[in-house]
This record gives sequence, structure tokens and C-alpha cells, in this order.
Amino acid sequence: MNLLRPDSFDKVLLPNAEAHCLPAWCYTDDEFFELERKQVFGRAWVGVGRQELLPNAGDYRTLDVAGTPIIIVRGEDGTLRAFSNACRHRGMRLLEGEGSCRAISCPFHGWKYKLNGDLLGVPHMEQAVGFDRQTFGLTPVRLEVSDGFVFVCLDPDQVSLKDWLGDFSERHAAYGFEKLRCTWQTTYEVDCNWKPFVEVFMEYYHLNWVHAQTFDEIAYKPPVPHEETSGNYTTVFGYHNEGSAAVIDKMADALPPIPGLPEDLQRATRYTMVFPGFIMAATKDCMWYFECHPLSANRSRFVLGTCFPEETIAMDGFEEIQKSYQERWHVAAQEDIDVLERQQLGLASPLATSGPLSHLEYAVGDLAKFIAGEVTPRS
Ligand code: FES
Repeated sequence: MNLLRPDSFDKVLLPNAEAHCLPAWCYTDDEFFELERKQVFGRAWVGVGRQELLPNAGDYRTLDVAGTPIIIVRGEDGTLRAFSNACRHRGMRLLEGEGSCRAISCPFHGWKYKLNGDLLGVPHMEQAVGFDRQTFGLTPVRLEVSDGFVFVCLDPDQVSLKDWLGDFSERHAAYGFEKLRCTWQTTYEVDCNWKPFVEVFMEYYHLNWVHAQTFDEIAYKPPVPHEETSGNYTTVFGYHNEGSAAVIDKMADALPPIPGLPEDLQRATRYTMVFPGFIMAATKDCMWYFECHPLSANRSRFVLGTCFPEETIAMDGFEEIQKSYQERWHVAAQEDIDVLERQQLGLASPLATSGPLSHLEYAVGDLAKFIAGEVTPRS
């Protein structure tokens, strides 16, 4: 590509205190978007939500990962699997949206697949010489679950999810992610590249300006210094006033803490980004995450999921109280989106440059270094 040169990321790769953000064209250029799709999202373990959202055999959802349509479906044996969403006969897209099915049937010529991907029935193929049903099951895609989160990976040579995540599970163990349950999902489509959305989630620098009118009561304190991780993720941990970071000016309504959460973590929030773009935050009483779905260089889709402990969900009035949490998530997202869509307009300027990063933005630098490493040709 024309814009990518050997020295493109020299300033990105400097130590954090000196590092710059990615060049502006990394947020706007169509060729770079395609390169990211292939080299970043096409090789990574990509976070795609929670396993409890598909609880029963036959429950499925469809989505695109790095431009590849896939199906995620729970089998009769309780195992969650992923497959290419393309019929092995002549490529028909098999399923749309989400739902539940007893088998996966192709609407074109009626080939039918079991929930484990095996080809079950094939009408009018008895005269096809050499046709072996056993070899035409759905094409599998790697899927693994960690801490209740579902990840898929298109690269057969990628390391295991456990190795990809390194010490992620240990670092988040106090929150008991595996025991939380997703209670609400909503989708945002945003006129910006995927990176500004995940970057703003991970930095404190903008809080006093973008959220000044909304999150005063929480009174964030500066995050603790940069934590080293052994996995493909970055994390920001900071203390704030009493209460949940997930509810605005209705602290009295805040739900009980996550069972067993140590007292000091009840006055703090941990923000984490599993590279490339799966972001989550855990606080006193809940956890919320965003799936990241890049659509083009300047348009992206994010699916917000919010999770609470089962004990909290069972409380009288939970549904009503949850509404004030939903309001907070929506207000925060919209305040960020208003800024990000303006940022995207600025980034598109031929005169846009990449500037230095504050210590409150180190996770932005971590993502930039990860991307630079993935898109740079390997010798
Ligand atoms: Fe699916 Fe023909 S394309 S049965």
C-alpha cells in the first residue's frame, strides 16, 4: 500500500512516555482497513460476546468476522461451535440473524446439517459419482470460551485462546466473570473507524471534558500506573468515590456488590481491551463489554452487553433498577459517539497529524503498538 512505509510506526513504537498515536491515515484509508481486516482481525482471537446468550441446543447467532460470515451454534452435546456460514454445496448463506433450530437447513437445495456440522441429508445426489457425504460437513471455525466470553479465530495457526489471553483470567478473577449473566444488549452503529471507539473507552484523558456534566459524582482518580500483562490485552485500573461506575446520580439505587468482591475493588473500575477490539469494564456490581465489528474505514458497529451476578438478577425490582444502569451506559456511549464522529472528520483531513500521548492514554499507545506489530510484514 502507498501509505505504509518502513518508518510509518517509528513514533508509535517509542517507549510510552514518548510514543505517538497511529498516523491519521490508519483511521481513514480503505487499503489500511483491508490490511487490518486480513492481518489483525483475520488472525486474532476475536471476542464475540457471552456464552450464556446461547444456552440451549440449537441456539445460534450469525456474524461477520474479518469479512467472513460465520455461525455460532450450541450442539446437542452442549458444546458451542463456530462454522462458516456458507453451504458446502454451492455456497448459499445458511442462516441469518439469530434464533434456534434443530438442524441447519440450506434454503437453496435442501442440504441439511447437524448442529455439530455433519452433513445429515442431501436430496437427489444419488447419481453424483464419488460423492461422500462424510466429507461435506460445515467448515469449522475455531471457537473457545474463557471467563464466560466467546472468542473465535479464523487462523488455524494461531496459538490457543489460553496463550492469547495470558494472565487475563488471573487478573480479573475477583470479578467472577464466568458466573455473571448478560441481562441486556444493544447495538450502536457509529460513523467512525473502529479504533477511536475502543480507544476512548480505555483512556481517562477525555473524562473531564466529554463526561464533565454526567460523571461528576463518581469522581475518578487518576488510574494506577501502567500494568504489564502477559497476554494480548491492555488494562487500566483506577479508584473512584463510593458506588458503582455504572450508574449516574442514583447511587442510592446501586445494586449490591458482586459476591466476594474485595472491599477496595468496590471503589474502583477496571477497563480492559483484549486485542484487537474487545473492550470491557468491571466495577463494584457489574461488568459491561462491547463487541467490535468494523464495517468500513469510517463506519463501525458495537454491541454492548451488560452482565450482573445471578443473585442480583434474582432480586425484587432488578428490572426497574437496571434501567438507571442502562441510562448511564447509553448516555456515556452517546457522549463519546458525538466526539468520535467529529474526531473522524478531523482525521480525514489531508493535514491531520498524529500527536503524542498523555500518560492517561497509555492503553491507546498499547493498541497502536499491537496494530503496528500485526500489519508490519514479518521476516
Ligand atoms: Fe445449499 Fe445448494 S447451496 S443446498
